[in-house]
Amino acid sequence: MKINLFFMKSRVAKRIFYIFIICVLLPIGILAFISLHQLSEDQKEKSFQKLHQVSKNIGMSVIEGLSFIQSEMHVVALSNNSGLQTPMLELLNQHIDGKHPRLLGLTLFEGQKAIKTFVGKPCPYPKVTASDLQYLSTGKGVLNIQILNENSYSMFMIVGNNISPDRNRLIVGKVNIEYLWEIARASLPSMTHVYIRTSAGTSLFNTGPLSQVALKEIENKMKTSAVGRLEWNDDSGTHFASQWSAFLKGSFYADDWKIIVTESKGDAFAAVNRASKIIALIFIVSVLVVLFLSSVQIRRNLEPLTRLKEGTQRVSQGDFKSRIRVRSGDEFEELAMSFNTMSEKIGRHFSNLSEMGQMITKILTSLDREKIIQAVLLNARNVVSCDSVSLTLIDLQETKVALTFLKNGGYGDTALVVKRPTIFQLSELRKLGEARENLIVESGEEFDGLLSTMKDRGCVRFVLLPIIIQNQLSGVLTLGYMEQLEQMREDCIKARQIADHLASAFANAGLMEELDQLNWGALTALARTVDAKSSWTAGHSERVTNLSLWIGHEIGMTSEELVILQRGALLHDIGKIGIPGCILDKPSRLTTDEYTLFKEHPEKGALILEPIKAYCKVIPLVAQHHEWFNGQGYPKGLSGDGICMGARILAVADVYDALLSDRPYRKGWDKDSVIDHIHEKAGLHFDPEVVRAFMKICNVSYSDTLTYTSITDRNSIPMKEISATYKLAAKIRK
Ligand SMILES: [Fe+2]
Repeated sequence: MKINLFFMKSRVAKRIFYIFIICVLLPIGILAFISLHQLSEDQKEKSFQKLHQVSKNIGMSVIEGLSFIQSEMHVVALSNNSGLQTPMLELLNQHIDGKHPRLLGLTLFEGQKAIKTFVGKPCPYPKVTASDLQYLSTGKGVLNIQILNENSYSMFMIVGNNISPDRNRLIVGKVNIEYLWEIARASLPSMTHVYIRTSAGTSLFNTGPLSQVALKEIENKMKTSAVGRLEWNDDSGTHFASQWSAFLKGSFYADDWKIIVTESKGDAFAAVNRASKIIALIFIVSVLVVLFLSSVQIRRNLEPLTRLKEGTQRVSQGDFKSRIRVRSGDEFEELAMSFNTMSEKIGRHFSNLSEMGQMITKILTSLDREKIIQAVLLNARNVVSCDSVSLTLIDLQETKVALTFLKNGGYGDTALVVKRPTIFQLSELRKLGEARENLIVESGEEFDGLLSTMKDRGCVRFVLLPIIIQNQLSGVLTLGYMEQLEQMREDCIKARQIADHLASAFANAGLMEELDQLNWGALTALARTVDAKSSWTAGHSERVTNLSLWIGHEIGMTSEELVILQRGALLHDIGKIGIPGCILDKPSRLTTDEYTLFKEHPEKGALILEPIKAYCKVIPLVAQHHEWFNGQGYPKGLSGDGICMGARILAVADVYDALLSDRPYRKGWDKDSVIDHIHEKAGLHFDPEVVRAFMKICNVSYSDTLTYTSITDRNSIPMKEISATYKLAAKIRK
């Protein structure tokens, strides 16, 4: 099974893994260490106890062997005194049951003279001291060791044979040391070694590969050891040793023997080493098991975390639609579900905020009441969860009636907005004026006039949000619900914000309308001032403006071009302010000088408008409206496309109105003559394209009495209607 440890790069994974290690391996490690230590101590103690017991056993066995020899030699001595035959003599010098003979020789000495050898080779006379003889006289034996050289010695057992002050008869037996050490070896367990020496330091027996240096060290340490145990080292490692003292003084009148048994630590700790290997194996297996289990657990726990992390990153990047799938059946699954719910709510809020922002931007950036109303009705339900929305404008001072706007089918920008007159009771208006935040109304209560349409659509609960402009009730934003919803409270907060922004937008739109009216009023006043300078030109500028707008619309001018055309037409003769009234009202033809002065009015008009930056695009219309298409006009003799389109339109409209009007020096023409004249002058005085549009209007006008009459009857068209004409043209253009 392949274990993928890539996830171990995670800090959480490492932390969990370390916890596993600490919680599992550390106790095992400590337990193993303590167990091994305790086992080692026990094993060491057991080893010392075993070595002590072995050394004691060897010592006892050797003493027993010596005692046996001594007893047999006493028997020989007694037999010899009594002159009896000693049948067991043969046994002393023979191999019995594969064992070595106990004595290599047995000799009777008279003084220092050998007088009889019982078995084996004759023994040399040993060094016997006076104290030995005294001890022998008690009937006990003496063990005598004679050093031959550094590596060899002889051991004799001496017993007395009728010892008296004047006669020393001794029986001396040369002890076969192989017999003794065979006894020692028999008591020696495997892997252990024995070293036997006298208390005087004479080395007697050594089974192990113990060097003299090692033996010396053992001897030195034994001297300082109170319990007769020690540890010593050599090239092969550490060794344990235990010593037992064999007291020979009482039985053999000889120095005590030290029986030292040693064992290598490696042999003594064989069990410990085996246990160590088993524990190491257990440790390794534990590591593998921990590694496997921890990796499984960590992956199981980390996978949901990774998914949560990825989900969080997606949310932070604005992806609120993706969901996290965790099927762990534990808290991680619950966390993932909570995360998904949270993500969905955040997404909804984010979408609402976005929609709200867009709608408020549309509301605040629009200066047109209709666009503001459309923006609210078409987008409000993306922000609030109501079933129907209406917006009511209240202007009791002007229209005496309120208008309610509702969305009527369709979606998005294609949805239709309908308006219906609405009648309020005075108590209802008072209630709305006093409610600064909102009113919640149930079906069947007040506001029947306002809510009737929504009720027809199935709404039973309503939230009314008054729109207050300059402390006056100016409108109502109404939300309709078909059932009770939990989101109503949240909707009220959002709708209140919308209503507040609506108040600002309507206030701005009102200001713009006032400014627009002021602007057009000022322009119209200026145009009428110019026309009033001569009694023959009353209403001329406004009529020219009206006709110019129709021609401009027919040609396909944009709304911006139409606004410039409208302004240029109203002000086209403003330069006449600088022309003396006597010239303008002269009943006869003008002289050359007078005409020259008159022809200056287009340039004078341009000079008058020059300081107004907003009218810079109007100046060419004023300056060029007397230029001819063929270049024979004034003041500069421009021709063709050198004359701006607005000026070419003005030229037609100006001549049309001038020829229809009476002048001091002639009567006004009939309209057919004027139309014919304009048609004839196409390509000369007038732009053929403009004439074509003019003629189209005239032809259409003949079949559309109402529209044509307003032009041909030269009725003065009020400014409001001119503005409406412009707006109509702009709408159609769009
Ligand atoms: Fe003019």
